[in-house]
This record gives sequence, structure tokens and C-alpha cells, in this order.
Amino acid sequence: MTASQPTVHPTAADLLAADALADVQYEHTDGVIDLTWGHPDPSALASEAVAEAAQSALATHGWQALTYGAPCGAAFTRAAIASLLTRTDTGSETAGVTADEVIVTAGSSGGLDLLLTLLARPGDVVVVEQPTYFLALRMFADHGVQVVGLDGDADGPSSADLQRKAEATSKQKNLFMYLVPTFANPTGRCLPTSRIDELLSVARSNSILVIEDDVYRDTAPAPPPSMWSRDRDVVVRLGSFSKSLAPGMRVGFITGGSDLITQIGACGLLDSGGGLNHFASMIVGELIGSGRFDEIAAAGKRRYTERCAALAEALDAKLFTFTIPAGGYFLWLALPEGVSSAGAVSAARAAGVLVSDGRPFLVDAPDAGHIRLSFSMLDVDLLREGATRLNRAIASLMP
Ligand SMILES: Cc1ncc(COP(=O)(O)O)c(C=O)c1O
Repeated sequence: MTASQPTVHPTAADLLAADALADVQYEHTDGVIDLTWGHPDPSALASEAVAEAAQSALATHGWQALTYGAPCGAAFTRAAIASLLTRTDTGSETAGVTADEVIVTAGSSGGLDLLLTLLARPGDVVVVEQPTYFLALRMFADHGVQVVGLDGDADGPSSADLQRKAEATSKQKNLFMYLVPTFANPTGRCLPTSRIDELLSVARSNSILVIEDDVYRDTAPAPPPSMWSRDRDVVVRLGSFSKSLAPGMRVGFITGGSDLITQIGACGLLDSGGGLNHFASMIVGELIGSGRFDEIAAAGKRRYTERCAALAEALDAKLFTFTIPAGGYFLWLALPEGVSSAGAVSAARAAGVLVSDGRPFLVDAPDAGHIRLSFSMLDVDLLREGATRLNRAIASLMP
């Protein structure tokens, strides 16, 4: 990596170049406080609970836990996820989620890739809020889908701009909107219901499929209702157990209308390989059914609330402008006037703290003037020390 490249954290290509035989994405460097990774704390990963649930899945389901799974996921797992969502996503008037509205995926990323494989053609268009999840942009590029940034304000993307962009898109192309409406990456903000409804109304009248990435729902005590719960036909929601349980399980889900679920379930990938991550998803189903998932998620919620508050409090309010989010993993800091994100990242690095450059989260802004800090991985003492180093580094850039 050169200093001039905008970085969030090392890319897969960097990691491969550094060590083709690495076991995991994250790499620790002694003495460096790394606020770039949106990963759960390694020391908090629930290995004992997962081991017990694995044994229980084998004892309960026997050979059925280890053979090819049903294409949309085991009925047992789908029902467990539906019951979880019925409790945690309380938005719709008919709040219940049913198992046939759920399909198991390899995380949210696997769900997005599956959707793009089945529904998008190269040259199709996806509109995104700005800033947005930078790795979704990589996946759109993998599928040759053109990304268009939406204008917006503090409440999120503008519905008027969505209408303009829909009118400017050829009717020959499929049009998608990708959003992280709940505890967004990188900002942590939730879209207000009024904005969600405006966007949904434009999406409905322009045949835009809304892809809702909902991976942070279980990181905070009081998540707002999903977009999907407000319109189950126009929206398809991607969920995940990566942020609440363990990303290495690679278990997530899609919730969608029954036609879409049937279409996905009939695809070649699931026909050939059966349901995705069948055994791991059964373990997740066991954890939900036994109540252990709720305990693990509740501990995470307490941890993230405490860490977010500690980091926010230790940052110098005279240097950074930011909103404290009610959930998610991130703080999105506006830098002082005249300080660029590239300058901030390299000054921070020199001071022994790694932060993410805001530029990769934007589609069409040359310099964000923002950096992202993740508070999920480190304990409060390290977060405070990281903030102290960052304060000093940015203060040194001031005239
Ligand atoms: C918005 C968003 N979507 C998806 C992911 C990846 O989720 P998963 O591990 O379920 O593929 C992340 C992880 O950082 C994320 O922030």
C-alpha cells in the first residue's frame, strides 16, 4: 500500500501479497492501535457456546446435519431465523416473519452476490447513498453493475434525487437501490421513517428493487424496523450473524417475497450444492432455539454501547465533528477544515493508530474530509489510548 492510496484496511490483495497462507483477515501489529476493522472482538467470540451448539445439532439432527441441505436452508434454521426476526424487527403491521420468507446465505455478502448473480446484468445500475459500505461497491464492480451515488442530507439519500436518477436510467436496464438503513457503515446513522417512506414510494413507482443491508440490527438494544418490514415486495433484506455472533460462521439470510425466494431457491448454485453453509446454519439455529444467541447478542450490545461512548468521549470535540450512533460498529468523523483524510490517515499512522480514509466510502467525492473509526474490536482502554494518539496527530496538522 502506498500512502497516496485511500485505504479502509488492507485489501484481500494486500493480505495475499503479505502472506498467502494467512488463516484470517485481521493481522495484529504490536504497539499499533488499529481502528480500521469492523470485526467483533476476537476475545469475545463465543467458541464454547458454538461448540455446545454443534454437538447439540449433531445429536438432534444426526446425519441430516452433515448431508446436503435443502436449497433455501434447513426448515429448522429458517424457522429459527423467522422467529428471531419476529422479535427483533417489529416494524410491520403484520409483524410476524414466516420461515418461507427466509433463505439462508453465506453472510450478507453471499446474499448480495447471489442477488446480483440472479437479478443483475452487466451494465445495470445500482444507486447508493453516500457514504456507503465500500465493499458492496467492490461487489457491484465484480458484477459489472454501474454504481451511481445519490445526493442527500443529514437524514439520508434524497428521494427527489432518486426520482431524477431513475428518470435518467434507460428503461432497458434493471435499477437497484442499495442501502444500509440501520446503524450504517460507515456513519452508524439510522434512516428516519419519513425518509424511508419517501424512498420506498419512489422505488415503487419506478420499479426499483431496494436491497436493504441489515447486518447491524443485533448490535444495539433498540433497532428501528427494517425497510423490508414496511414493504415486503419492493425491498429485499440481507441479514447476517457476522456482527452479532461470529463472522467465521458465514451464516446470513435474505428475507424477501415468496416469488423471489422461490426464484433464488431454484438457482443452479443451490441446486448443485444444497443450502449454503448447512451445518454452520444449523448451529446458528440451535443457538437461537436455546436462547444462547440472545445472551451472546445482549453481551455484544452492552459491549458496543460502552465502547462507543468511551471512544466518543476521548475524542477531542474541538477537532472532530460527529454524531454518536445508537448502534453499529463505527464513528464517522468530520475532520477540521483544511485537514484531508489522506493527511489524517498518515499522521495517525505515524502516531501509532490506524484509521480508515473516508474516500473509499464515497462514489463521487474527491476528498471526503472524513475518517472512520471502528470501536468493535478493542477494549475501552485501548480505544481511549487510540483517541489520545489521534487527537495529538490531528492537532499537529492544524496551522
Ligand atoms: C454494511 C455491511 N454489509 C455487509 C458486511 C459483511 O457482512 P457478512 O459478514 O455477513 O458478509 C459488512 C461488514 O463489515 C457491512 O458493514
